Amino acid sequence: MDWRKSMIKRVVLSFMAIILLTLALGGVTFAFAVRHYFYSGVAQVLLNRAEASDALYGQFSGNVRINRWGSPFMEALDSFRARNALVEILNPEGDLIASSSGLTETARVPLNSRIINGKETSRVERFPRTGEKVMAVYYPVQIMGKPYIIRYVSSLSGIDRELMLIYLGTFVCAVVIAALVFFISLRLAKSIVTPIRHIISASEEMASGNFNLRMKDHYSDELGVLAKTLNTMAEEIQKNDKLKNQFISSVSHELLTPLTGIRGWSETMIINHTLSPAELEEGLNVIKSESDRLQIIVRDLLNFSKLQGNNIKLNRAKMDIGVSVRQSAASLQIKAAEKRCILVTGENGRLSFTGDSIRLQQAIVNLIDNAIKFADDGSRISIDYYEENHQVIINVKDKGIVIDEKDLPYLTDAFYQVRANGRGSGLGLAISDQIVRLHGGKLTITSNKQEGTIATIRLPDYHC
Ligand SMILES: Nc1ncnc2c1ncn2[C@@H]1O[C@H](COP(=O)(O)OP(=O)(O)OP(=O)(O)O)[C@@H](O)[C@H]1O
Ligand SMILES: [Mg+2]
Repeated sequence: MDWRKSMIKRVVLSFMAIILLTLALGGVTFAFAVRHYFYSGVAQVLLNRAEASDALYGQFSGNVRINRWGSPFMEALDSFRARNALVEILNPEGDLIASSSGLTETARVPLNSRIINGKETSRVERFPRTGEKVMAVYYPVQIMGKPYIIRYVSSLSGIDRELMLIYLGTFVCAVVIAALVFFISLRLAKSIVTPIRHIISASEEMASGNFNLRMKDHYSDELGVLAKTLNTMAEEIQKNDKLKNQFISSVSHELLTPLTGIRGWSETMIINHTLSPAELEEGLNVIKSESDRLQIIVRDLLNFSKLQGNNIKLNRAKMDIGVSVRQSAASLQIKAAEKRCILVTGENGRLSFTGDSIRLQQAIVNLIDNAIKFADDGSRISIDYYEENHQVIINVKDKGIVIDEKDLPYLTDAFYQVRANGRGSGLGLAISDQIVRLHGGKLTITSNKQEGTIATIRLPDYHC
């Protein structure tokens, strides 16, 4: 994939933008803080020096006669001298009166209001003669009873050199951090994008029809979930495909069987004119029953497709569940008798419910039909109905073929048959399930050797 459109670029750029911004802000703040710390340190040392000198000078300032140079200003300069700093005496207007450098030709020093108001202060200035950056500290004193200002001037070049080294070190650190973040974000982005690319290429394969492919789902994060989901999707598609094929073959088989009977008998009747009336009647009976079977299969298919498309509107009305259960059982009595099975319906009297009695009866018939189909010959099939926790329950229970646990979740899927090509199209339970769902209920099936197979319809309390 084009790097410019890749997630890698976005992740790396976002990370770098954040880190560069943080480093720039942090760097500038740090530089200002360090500069302030060093400069104020110099100013503070000079101010302390001035204070200490002033205390000493105050004790002797009256005794002008002991001054070695015979000048009060020289004596003051001597008292206030400091290491690595030039000491000057200014009058309140800023004129230079005396200087420890001996030079006094400097122009008037511009004073700010703090200094004029007799407050000690410090500021960074340019030295007039050399243009060098200096720290100037102003301290008010009394010489000969008159106000003057002591001005210390100390060069900042040494400190600036040290500051430059600190700035350089900080800059190098910032570059190293930025480089580290770049490589870490690149690795991180690749660790996200590489599995995504695997998943993309695998899903492209799947999209082109290769559903046998499975993705590695060893990722423990969301990508693992995505890989698992796509694998499940591929399995589902394969399963549906298999079901569809099974369905087509079973429907074709189902349709072919009666058609073969119909065709066989009709041909016999056309060709053979010597058939006895009894044989003719038998042939016609076969043609009729096979046509009936065809009709049932086609009706089931239509029913199912209607239910699937939610094209069915329930005709709800007050009904008696007991009546529906008994009528359903009665309609299958002959079929049960063929297998010598006994249908036993629980006699719980009236159980009223508001629902579509025709559809519900269809759902119950499908369950009893299955029970007869899969029960042992001569066994007992019980159909119970009752109310429990404000729900209407209908149970159809038989003893016979046990359904494997792994098949249970798929029984209500359309066309699903545990043993493919058995009689029927595998639509019965799918239709029943849809009908029960439309009533807001649930169809469940359990099966084990001890209790047999129990199909249960649960309908929510619906009395209106
Ligand atoms: N009572 C039961 N005992 C054992 N297996 C059952 C029982 N009921 C359903 N099954 C299994 O579930 C499958 C699906 O049932 P379903 O009623 O949907 O289809 P069918 O009976 O095969 O066909 P159809 O109902 O369309 O004639 C059956 O093929 C059968 O394998
Ligand atoms: Mg069935």
